[in-house]
Amino acid sequence: MKYKRILLKLSGEALMGAKGFGIDQNRLMEYAHEIKEVYTAGCQVAVVIGGGNIFRGIQAEKGGMDRVHGDYMGMLATVINSMAIQAALEGLGVQTRLQSAIKMEQICEPYIRRKAVRHLEKGRVVIFGAGTGNPYFTTDTAATLRAIEIEANVILKGTRVDGIYTADPEKDPKATKYEVIKFEEVYEKGLEVMDMTAFTLCKENNLPIIVFDMNKKGNLSDLVAGKKIGTLVQV
Ligand code: GTP
Repeated sequence: MKYKRILLKLSGEALMGAKGFGIDQNRLMEYAHEIKEVYTAGCQVAVVIGGGNIFRGIQAEKGGMDRVHGDYMGMLATVINSMAIQAALEGLGVQTRLQSAIKMEQICEPYIRRKAVRHLEKGRVVIFGAGTGNPYFTTDTAATLRAIEIEANVILKGTRVDGIYTADPEKDPKATKYEVIKFEEVYEKGLEVMDMTAFTLCKENNLPIIVFDMNKKGNLSDLVAGKKIGTLVQV
């Protein structure tokens, strides 16, 4: 196994599957199975999931809502998705703990770094909900921050594309995929991997990022095993 401890970042939108809103049960179970596979192999797994399938703070702002208010609603949306992932994993017999950056003691633990690490060491999948607990930060930033805090070996960004391309592959047929790219090159070429706050945090803390297609069965466990899948961003 190449990576002993990973932080898996999933997008909320991906959980919608073919639906226009909310959680697609089939997609949820697919993800749970993928996670179970690496968990069973002995990999320590932390998960951060977005909330865009339920609520997007930035769009709410366009509708006249205060940005900060919208961001807090978005953070709550991530807790709903986290609870869904938690239930799906536990249904498959995977032990989990959910920790939230915003206290909700009736439904989950508060975020405590040392406890999160202990859970991982004890073989529990740890899910981090409510982003960083602060407005103006994305779930990518939350994922990066938590990954650094728990000393994950890598952040795996599961998306619906299979990596980072020279240009948008949906618009430019000549676009090619990078297998490996340096942080500096991503800046220079203006490529989009994560928002800049998250990306810079990864770079400054030497945390490699792998962007990969989470919807392809087996990709996650192949990645953890060390196969070259998606695009690796590193120093
Ligand atoms: P270890 O002591 O490492 O074995 O961890 P543990 O999580 O098993 O111990 P703990 O007694 O802290 O937790 C038992 C259960 O209570 C777990 O399912 C936790 O997620 C849950 N739990 C712990 N703290 C809280 C909390 O503040 N709120 C909620 N809702 N659940 C909590």
